[in-house]
Amino acid sequence: MSTVVLVTGGSGLVGKAIEHVINTEPESSRFGKRPGEKWVFANSTEGDLKDPVQTEKLFEKYKPTHVIHLAALVGGLFKNMKYKLTFLRDNTLINDNVLHFSHTKNVQKVISCLSTCVFPDKVTYPLDETKIHDGPPHESNFGYANAKRMVDVMNHAYKEEFGCNFTSAIPTNVFGPHDNFDLEDSHVIPGLIHKCYRAKQNNTPFAVSGTGKPLRQFIFSYDLARLFIWMLREYDDVEPVILSVGEEEEVSIKSVADKIVKTVGFQGEYKFDSTKADGQFRKPASNKRLLTLMSQNKNEQQFKFTPFDEALEYTVKWFVENYNKGARIGKVA
Ligand SMILES: NC(=O)c1ccc[n+]([C@@H]2O[C@H](COP(=O)([O-])OP(=O)(O)OC[C@H]3O[C@@H](n4cnc5c(N)ncnc54)[C@H](OP(=O)(O)O)[C@@H]3O)[C@@H](O)[C@H]2O)c1
Repeated sequence: MSTVVLVTGGSGLVGKAIEHVINTEPESSRFGKRPGEKWVFANSTEGDLKDPVQTEKLFEKYKPTHVIHLAALVGGLFKNMKYKLTFLRDNTLINDNVLHFSHTKNVQKVISCLSTCVFPDKVTYPLDETKIHDGPPHESNFGYANAKRMVDVMNHAYKEEFGCNFTSAIPTNVFGPHDNFDLEDSHVIPGLIHKCYRAKQNNTPFAVSGTGKPLRQFIFSYDLARLFIWMLREYDDVEPVILSVGEEEEVSIKSVADKIVKTVGFQGEYKFDSTKADGQFRKPASNKRLLTLMSQNKNEQQFKFTPFDEALEYTVKWFVENYNKGARIGKVA
């Protein structure tokens, strides 16, 4: 039987990265396409996954044997705070439909995408896979986080009741080509890239919110894509895996902004607005489990993450080249 991998959310940051990797890695290599394998990258125009009828149609159309489930209502802090019920309900419906039809249509394996936002607000660091349900998530993303947590609960229930091979991945902050670069509602890296680019265009100051001191772990979308492909091929357990660079790879927001300023070639006034909130100083996640699992395959070399500076430079250049060619820049005044 041939393999059909359905990637839901295939038009997003992570979906586009998986498409790039599967089409550019050497065929039959660890992360490359295998003979006879078909990859389908679906977006919402192929079917609204909130709707069971449309979800079933999508599964009937492609008959997937494997699913990488990325589709989600995703948003920045403001949107998450304002639309808690919508984030909870939309993501719950999407996840329930995808897992239900994966089960009823006999999909062999599903990897769903969680996020480090699912972890409790009050938790000991570093985060690891055992701490997901140890307390309530931060109230700002209560809807999104609880919907995502339920995927882990459902994965265990599907395994116990029906023996399904469903699992989940927990990426830290992702960045790369095809990100959402909206000025109002984006994650920190794409937001800063767009802001700095606009400041250069308009000859205005580049103001970074907060002190620039907080530390974060960022994963390049192409590295994350390789790790999803690894999970699809080499990981068969229900327990989630944190997909992240190591804790020692944390970078400050200031060093991110410095690098963006340099790559964009911005020479105007560059400042930090310390009247704006910094958020948590750091929230490191451990990638020990990931590295241990990957190293069990003695036939393969140790996984190498793309150096952060190289990945950031690549992303900035992609944004500049695609600014007028379909990059998701949102509404620009
Ligand atoms: N970005 C991050 O830093 C980050 C970090 C941790 C985890 N994650 C997780 O990674 C996954 C992918 O995130 P991303 O950043 O790639 O998201 P994204 O760029 O916003 O893309 C979202 C994708 O989901 C699809 N989608 C949304 N609602 C849908 C619906 N009702 N029916 C069908 N498809 C729908 C979108 O299709 P359209 O293009 O047609 O709207 C798009 O393909 C998500 O599960 C997210 O929670 C992301």
